[in-house]
Amino acid sequence: MKIVYKSLDEIRLMRESALVVAAILDEVCQAVVPGISTWELDRIARAAIKREGVTSAFLGYAQPPYPAVTCISVNEEIVHGIPRRDKVIAEGDLVSVDFGSFKHGMCADSARTVIAGQGTAEGRRLVDATRRALDLAIAQCRVDNRLEDIGSAVQSCAEGEGYSVVRVFVGHGIGKRMHEDPPVHNYGTPGRGKRIKRGLVIAVEPMVNAGSPEVEVLDDGWTAVTKDRSLSAHFEHTIAVLDDGPWVLTRPSSSPGVPGHD
Ligand code: MF3
Ligand code: CO
Repeated sequence: MKIVYKSLDEIRLMRESALVVAAILDEVCQAVVPGISTWELDRIARAAIKREGVTSAFLGYAQPPYPAVTCISVNEEIVHGIPRRDKVIAEGDLVSVDFGSFKHGMCADSARTVIAGQGTAEGRRLVDATRRALDLAIAQCRVDNRLEDIGSAVQSCAEGEGYSVVRVFVGHGIGKRMHEDPPVHNYGTPGRGKRIKRGLVIAVEPMVNAGSPEVEVLDDGWTAVTKDRSLSAHFEHTIAVLDDGPWVLTRPSSSPGVPGHD
């Protein structure tokens, strides 16, 4: 498989796609309150997709065909949680909202974990560490660094906090398709892996577990949970590598070569 590097014009198109993803994620995340079902959260995203005139990257994806436009993964659910009418958010839940769509034929993909209501210190510590792991990974997305520098940054942050990193799911190249080469692992050895070049666009998505890194997939064929049912958090951004540094396409405050902040 080959990495498709993007021109600056293509990256600018991806930025437009990514800003829509960021806006829709904002809308869904703001709706995360105790008492709402994950099915209702998905409906908010469906309405926003219609309004914005974009196409879901998730609906109908793979086998069995993914049945929704968001993945909503609560507490011990790591990723790929299928929205359900009977999955109702409770006070303190950790809710990962993952959303991807196409605009101008270009895909953007992003996820955030938010806490419903006040939450606990334990939940906040896991969410903050996972967000920080992604920020440290983004800082490694520079020309002439190596691909494993990214995963290594995630791993040392997460493990340094006493957490574990999920290994069976990875980040990915992204562009005209949601999943392109290269796979982007959330662990690694500094200085190893392919050299990072200008025009690389990747979705980096650390999944961090409070307990063991082991994963189990539920009978619905999608929902991935921690084997020990410990809490898990997930953040994802779509990032373009330019000569001056990373441009976090799904982060509105980022500009070419400047990562910005959430
Ligand atoms: N952001 C996830 C990924 O990159 C979610 C896609 S799974 C899907 O794989 F089935 F919903 F598309
Ligand atoms: Co992704």
